[in-house]
Amino acid sequence: MKIAILKERASGETRVAATPETVKKFAALGCTVAVEAGAGVVSSITDAAYAEAGASVGDAAACVKDADIVLGIQAPELALLQGAKPGAWVAALFDPFGKRDVVEAYAAAGYEALSMEFMPRITRAQSMDVLSSQSNLAGYKAVLAAAEAYGRAFPMMMTAAGTVQAARVFIMGVGVAGLQAIATARRLGAQVSATDVRSATKEQIQSLGAKAIFVENVAGIEGEGSGGYATEMSEEYQKAQAELVSSHIAKQDIVITTALIPGRAAPRLVSDAQIATMKPGSVIFDLAVAQGGNVEGSVADEVVVRHGVTIIGYANTPARLPADASALFARNHYNFLSAFWDKEQGRPVLDEEIGNAIRLTQGGKVVNERLLG
Ligand code: NAI
Repeated sequence: MKIAILKERASGETRVAATPETVKKFAALGCTVAVEAGAGVVSSITDAAYAEAGASVGDAAACVKDADIVLGIQAPELALLQGAKPGAWVAALFDPFGKRDVVEAYAAAGYEALSMEFMPRITRAQSMDVLSSQSNLAGYKAVLAAAEAYGRAFPMMMTAAGTVQAARVFIMGVGVAGLQAIATARRLGAQVSATDVRSATKEQIQSLGAKAIFVENVAGIEGEGSGGYATEMSEEYQKAQAELVSSHIAKQDIVITTALIPGRAAPRLVSDAQIATMKPGSVIFDLAVAQGGNVEGSVADEVVVRHGVTIIGYANTPARLPADASALFARNHYNFLSAFWDKEQGRPVLDEEIGNAIRLTQGGKVVNERLLG
């Protein structure tokens, strides 16, 4: 069983899908691991470190030749996979709803595409969940980037020259990224408030010492929501939410938005008119920018200024913490494959629940229910 790790080629991608730690663990399962030269450089992993861990290091073609499994962060271009075994597995982020053409091309080429973002949210799959591991880092980094762009301090400081007021930070969308953003902003000494549509998050917000700001007059989503996910809200709810945001946002210094709805464009939560009510020098970080954005006027991979408010829109925030993001992503890959390791066959054999959830293509066809439905 040969596992191949290619250098990521997407613009702005700094991560790598294996680390020396996971190379060693795969070797212990009996795999050979091949890593493309230079694949780990941006994540501070040298070729020598991979070689020391037991990987062979070479060019892309040598790396992929006869591979049974290719692990990636983002799905590699098909041209790079030439020479892999017919029907080889490719486990990576596929953006299946956004890049349907890539999924079709993988099917036509006969590879088995495994979408890591479709990992089901069930307890036993938590350690394989790349959306969680990467969102956690993104939530942290968003607060640091906002703090860096903010011309004032986060904590209250009483000095001989006078008092510095604590920054007011508002987190919109309290999933994995939002919870980490709350915790990070609190640690920096800010006064934090947060909102979500799922009622279960209210207690989570409060337990982190932040204030929960919720739509009261229209029902949101009960509890955790299906699979922990939100759905699109009714027009009535959206109107009530807009009113709530309008009354709250003008008093905020930093706003971090993280709201996502699987398979749909990100919900619009902050309008240009609302931004105009904020104080000059305030900062907004739109973590949903790659999915269409929660904030009117945010631009992927740009920092724009509207009405004196800085709007940051990094499209790939986890990639701004390459070493940790790679380490966690690589462990997610290892936890996934090792959980299904069949010792007799010397390869992973997926069960129905997880296999059907993440498998996009098989036998030359697109097979995933979420794409066929
Ligand atoms: P996500 O990235 O899909 O969305 C981020 C947040 O935005 C969610 O909390 C969502 O409710 C919120 N949101 C969506 N529309 C909104 C709107 N219009 N206004 C305000 N907020 C809005 O969610 P994420 O971070 O992936 O996780 C959501 C939940 O799933 C969490 O409770 C998490 O603990 C759970 N989870 C469970 C896992 C497991 O059991 N394996 C793994 C990952 C997450």
